[in-house]
Amino acid sequence: MDGNGRWAKKRMMPRAFGHKRGVEAVREITRAARGMGLEALTLYAFSSENWKRPADEIADLMGLLRTFIRNDLDEFVANNVRLRIIGEYQALAPDIVELIEDAMARTAHNTGTTLAIALNYGSQQEIARAAAKAAAKGAITPEAIEAELDTASLPPLDLLIRTSGEVRLSNFLLWQAAYAEMWFTDVLWPDFSPAHLQEALDQFGARERRFGGR
Ligand code: IPE
Ligand code: MG
Repeated sequence: MDGNGRWAKKRMMPRAFGHKRGVEAVREITRAARGMGLEALTLYAFSSENWKRPADEIADLMGLLRTFIRNDLDEFVANNVRLRIIGEYQALAPDIVELIEDAMARTAHNTGTTLAIALNYGSQQEIARAAAKAAAKGAITPEAIEAELDTASLPPLDLLIRTSGEVRLSNFLLWQAAYAEMWFTDVLWPDFSPAHLQEALDQFGARERRFGGR
């Protein structure tokens, strides 16, 4: 979900305003994903590298995360949305960890769309952790690593979308992206609408996936 800062800058507003509008987009896109019957939607909200940002911006993002979970949990419960977190969220502030764990517990048995939020997430770190766990149990095979990834309870990644014109993965779902389709758009995240999501899905549906076969 990239482009909040540039969206705000274009409007001569502080970055925090862009992040706030970014949360609105999250809300709308989550509802749309549910409406479209998507099995899972994974959002990259805070990377393990985002700690390099100024403390006040990190505080803004954490504040938005708190209010998002507090305000939207009832909607997830009411709409059969299962909330999952990927990444080392245990390193976040204790009150956020508590909010997250409560939200996951309250939605654990939901069977509709899974909303996975990546928090303090870095894919290289995830793969290293998974490999270490696999090694502790036996042979390090692709299957054994995959079973230990944070995404083990999620369906395979089909489509990866990056907003804001950047064409890189930035340590997101590197393993999972092996055969995922990629969709890059110049749209800044706060402007990313259900219509854009539909456009990405339509293009995804038109692609031929061979997974190395022919
Ligand atoms: C949001 O956009 C990403 C988050 C860390 C939440 P950015 O803050 O990276 O926005 P740009 O790249 O400066 O436009
Ligand atoms: Mg950015």
